[in-house]
Amino acid sequence: MSAIESVLVENRVFPPSDATVKAARISGMAAYEALCREAEKDFEGFWARLARDNVQWTKPFTQVLDESKAPFYKWFQDGELNASANCLDKHVGTPVENKVAIVFESDDGQVSQVTYKELLARVSQFANALKAQGIKKGDRVIVYMPMGVEGVVAMQACARIGATHSVVFGGFSAKSIHERVIDAGAVAIVTANYQMRGGKEMGLKSIVDEALAMGGCESVKSVLVYMRTPTACNMVAGRDKTFDEVLKGQSTECKPEPVGAEHPLFILYTSGSTGKPKGVQHSTGGYLLWSKLTMDWTFDLQPKDLFWCTADIGWITGHSYVAYGPLAAGATQLIFEGIPTYPHAGRFWQMIEKHKVSIFYTAPTAIRSLIKAAETDEKVHPKNWNLTSLRILGTVGEPINPEAWMWYFRNVGGERCPIVDTFWQTETGGHVITPLPGATPLVPGSCTLPLPGIMAAIVDETGKDIPNGSGGMLVIKRPWPSMIRTIWGDPERFKKSYFPEEMGGKLYLAGDGAVRDAKTGYFRITGRIDDVLNVSGHRLGTMEIESALVSKTDMVAEAAVVGRPDDLTGEAVCAFVVLKRPRPTGEEAKKIANELRNWVAKEIGPIAKPKDIRFGDNLPKTRSGKIMRRLLRSIAKGEQITQDTTTLENPAILDQLAENN
Ligand code: PRX
Repeated sequence: MSAIESVLVENRVFPPSDATVKAARISGMAAYEALCREAEKDFEGFWARLARDNVQWTKPFTQVLDESKAPFYKWFQDGELNASANCLDKHVGTPVENKVAIVFESDDGQVSQVTYKELLARVSQFANALKAQGIKKGDRVIVYMPMGVEGVVAMQACARIGATHSVVFGGFSAKSIHERVIDAGAVAIVTANYQMRGGKEMGLKSIVDEALAMGGCESVKSVLVYMRTPTACNMVAGRDKTFDEVLKGQSTECKPEPVGAEHPLFILYTSGSTGKPKGVQHSTGGYLLWSKLTMDWTFDLQPKDLFWCTADIGWITGHSYVAYGPLAAGATQLIFEGIPTYPHAGRFWQMIEKHKVSIFYTAPTAIRSLIKAAETDEKVHPKNWNLTSLRILGTVGEPINPEAWMWYFRNVGGERCPIVDTFWQTETGGHVITPLPGATPLVPGSCTLPLPGIMAAIVDETGKDIPNGSGGMLVIKRPWPSMIRTIWGDPERFKKSYFPEEMGGKLYLAGDGAVRDAKTGYFRITGRIDDVLNVSGHRLGTMEIESALVSKTDMVAEAAVVGRPDDLTGEAVCAFVVLKRPRPTGEEAKKIANELRNWVAKEIGPIAKPKDIRFGDNLPKTRSGKIMRRLLRSIAKGEQITQDTTTLENPAILDQLAENN
C-alpha cells in the first residue's frame, strides 16, 4: 500500500496521557477550544491580549489590525519594539539571565555553551561592528553562514540595529547568492571561510567571492568573515574583514534600535511555481509574537526543557525555531553544526542522550533515512541510547507517512512522547496547523487542527467552502500576525500568488491541497497544488530547475521538470530533456545525465539535482505547443498512460520517454 493510501485508512488515535495534559500550558481540548472561541468572538482583542502579554513594546500599539490596504495587512503598526531586545535584554534581571541559551555541538563533537548574558554581549558587540561598517537601520545584509552560534549572533545583531537580514542556506550556489544580493540590494555579506560538515571542510567564502564576481553587486560594501577553521581564504582588501578585525575594540553594549512593528525583520527567499525565488518579507512585531508564542503552545516549553530543532538557519524553521522563538521564550537550545549520519547514523540519538534533549524537532526525511540506516545496521538503532529525557517530538516540512510516524513514536519517543506534526510555510512565519501536546489526540499522518486564531479552511477554485471529507485547497480566511507582508520589491506577485482574485482576493492561498476528516475535522495535507516540489522538505520550483537546465545552452534545447513520489525524500526531481544533439542512450546517456546534474547543483545547489534524467527527441506537446506535464508525471511514476492523448501533437514520444535510459 502506498503512503497516501495508508493515510486514507488511518484510524489509530493517540490521546495525550493524563499526566501530560495536567502539566501542559494548554491543558486539554477544552482549554484549546476556549482559546479558539476567544479568537472567534473578539478576533482583534484576542491578538491584542497575546501581543501585550508576550512582546515587550518600547511604544505600545493602539491599533491591532489595519485592513485598509488588504491584502497588505498591518499588525500593531503604531507600536515599536526591537526583536533582539525581546530575545535577550528582556531576560536581564530575571533567572533566565544566567541560564544557558545555546549549547553548541560541532561537527567533530566539541561542545560549548553560551548563557543569555554572554549572548547579549556577543550580539551587542557584533551589532556595534556592523554599525562601524556603516550598516544602518533599513539596510539589507546577507547572512551565508554555517550552523553555529555566530550565525544566530549575526541575525540578532542585524535585528538589534534595525537592519533586515536575508539568510541564504549554506548549500546554495554562487548564482543563488548573486540573485539574492541583487534582488535585496544588500550592502553587506556575513559569511565564514569554511563550514564543517561530515568531517569535510567546505568553502563558503569562495562561493561568496564567485557570486560577487558575477557583476552588478556594487551595493555590497563589506564582507565580514568568521574564521570557522584555521585555513586561510581569499580576502579582498578594503572589502573583506575577519570577525576578529571588526570586533576588536567594539563595546559589548549596544542600545537596541526601536523599530515600527511592521519594519521588515527579514527577507527569506523561497521557491514559487513561476520565475525566480521570491523574497518573503516578514514583519518584526507580528513575527516575533508568533515565534515566541508557538514555542509555548506547540512545544509546551517549560523552564527546564532542552530544546533541539535540527533545521538550518537558512530555512524558515531555523529562523523561527532557532534564531528567534527559543530565545524570545527563554529556552535552552541545542545547535548542531553537522549532519545526522556523521560519524554514524546514530548521531542524533547519541546527542539526545548526551545533552538530555527533552523536545526534539526534525524533518520526516531525516526520520526516514535514519529508519533505513537502523534497519541495515542495528548499531545505529535508537534503542542503543537512553532517550528517556525526551518528552515531546515534532516534525516539519513535509507530510509524514504513518509508518515513519509510528516508528518515531515507538523507537524514539518510547510511546510516551506526543508528536507534533506542524504544518506551516515560509510565508506563515510560524506553525499554523498542529497538534498541541497536552491537548490534541494524535492521528499519524495528520497535522490535526489549526492553532487558535488561525482561520484555516478548505475551499474550491472559486473560494467556496468544501465539506469535510472532500479534498480541496487549503486557505486561511483571516490575516494573522506572523503572515508574509509582501514579496520584496514585487507587491503584484504577492497579491497574485497568495490572494488570487478568482477566489475573491481575501483568502490566503497556501498552495497545498488538503482534506478534513469527516468526523473529527482534522486536516491532512495532500501536497502542493502548484509547480512546487518538496524534496526532503526543501522547496523547489520546477521552473527554476528547468531554467537551470536550459541555461546550459551548448547542450540543452528543451527541458521539463516534474516530481515523482520517493520513499526516502518524499518527492524526487525528474527531468525530461531534449538535447541539441541526437538523443543519447546507454553509457553516453549516463555520462550526459551526470554532467547535467552537476550543472544544476552549480546553478542552484546540490538539493536541486534531478534524481532521474530522461532524454527524448521531443517532449509531449499539444498542437498549440503546450507541454503536457500530467503525462510526464505519469511517466515519471512509471504508470501506464490512461489519460486521453488524442490532443497530442506527437503521441509516439510517450513510449520513447517511458523507456529507461
Ligand atoms: O507543502 C507544504 C510542506 O512544506 C511547504 C512549505 O515549505 P517551506 O516554505 O519551505 O517551509 C517548510 C517549513 C515550514 C508547505 O506548503 N509542509 C510543511 N510542513 C508540512 C508540510 N506538508 C505536510 N505536513 C507538514 N507538517
